[in-house]
Amino acid sequence: MLIIGCSKGVHLAGKIAKKLQASYSALKVKKFPDGEIKARFMSDVKGKEVALIQSFYDNINDLIVEVIFAAETARDLGAKKVILIAPYFPYLRQDKMFKPGQCISIEVMSKLMGRYFDKVSIIDPHLHREKKLSGLFSIKAEKLTSNPYIADYIQKNIKNPLIVGPDWESYKWARKVAEKIKCEHVILKKKRYTGRKVKVILNKKINITNKNIVFVDDMISTGNTILECVKNLKKIGAKKFNCVVVHGIFVENALEKLRKANVKVVSTDTIPSKVAKIDVSGLIARALK
Ligand code: R5P
Repeated sequence: MLIIGCSKGVHLAGKIAKKLQASYSALKVKKFPDGEIKARFMSDVKGKEVALIQSFYDNINDLIVEVIFAAETARDLGAKKVILIAPYFPYLRQDKMFKPGQCISIEVMSKLMGRYFDKVSIIDPHLHREKKLSGLFSIKAEKLTSNPYIADYIQKNIKNPLIVGPDWESYKWARKVAEKIKCEHVILKKKRYTGRKVKVILNKKINITNKNIVFVDDMISTGNTILECVKNLKKIGAKKFNCVVVHGIFVENALEKLRKANVKVVSTDTIPSKVAKIDVSGLIARALK
């Protein structure tokens, strides 16, 4: 197998190849002044099973074009199989026509990737209305979860945790992690108004005595979901908070806002950042074995 580090996958690809004792090469990507990109393989892909590692954050749309170019080129060059490993896969939250005429992005993305890849593996995909990846993709699609790594991190670093999931969808992380470490958990209720505006309510009585509050969710984008939870929990006396998430997207100064609100954030390294302390390269390597 040949592991290829795409632009936003190099932080994991080398480690994955090392764990698998497989060959590794970075995809060479160049951007022209007009915004077009050019991708080039720097090792021979002929006859090989090629795994492209790409996490889709920051310039998401360029990264999509990049993996399509790379997959097509790999096939033209004679690759036996082309797999996409997406530590973070985008556009999964737009899973219905919220307003007439809207694009259901999740469907377009899965169709698109199905045309170019033999298989796709995604870490903790945000699946809501669509429950399973197999219902979305026409190709083999595998869901990997970092829950055991998150549970392990909490167990080793936070005493007496009370795990808080900010909305009902978060049970897939919050409840599952709490079950693994056998601690208490509570799932709150959230209503989303816009991409930036959410309202969270404490829908039950929560006892925070002697507890360290740990928010667990799949992702932080603007941070507003967690900030809303903090605002409400402060009303019942909570002062300090922890937050462990899979995907730390952190747009619009999210990390700084959370720090000011007394939230200590840690994420996995599906997206690299200064708080991406939980290494998921082993999870991907195991899936590729
Ligand atoms: C949505 O349901 C997700 O699980 C996250 O709760 C959400 O995307 C976080 O976004 P933000 O940090 O912008 O509130």
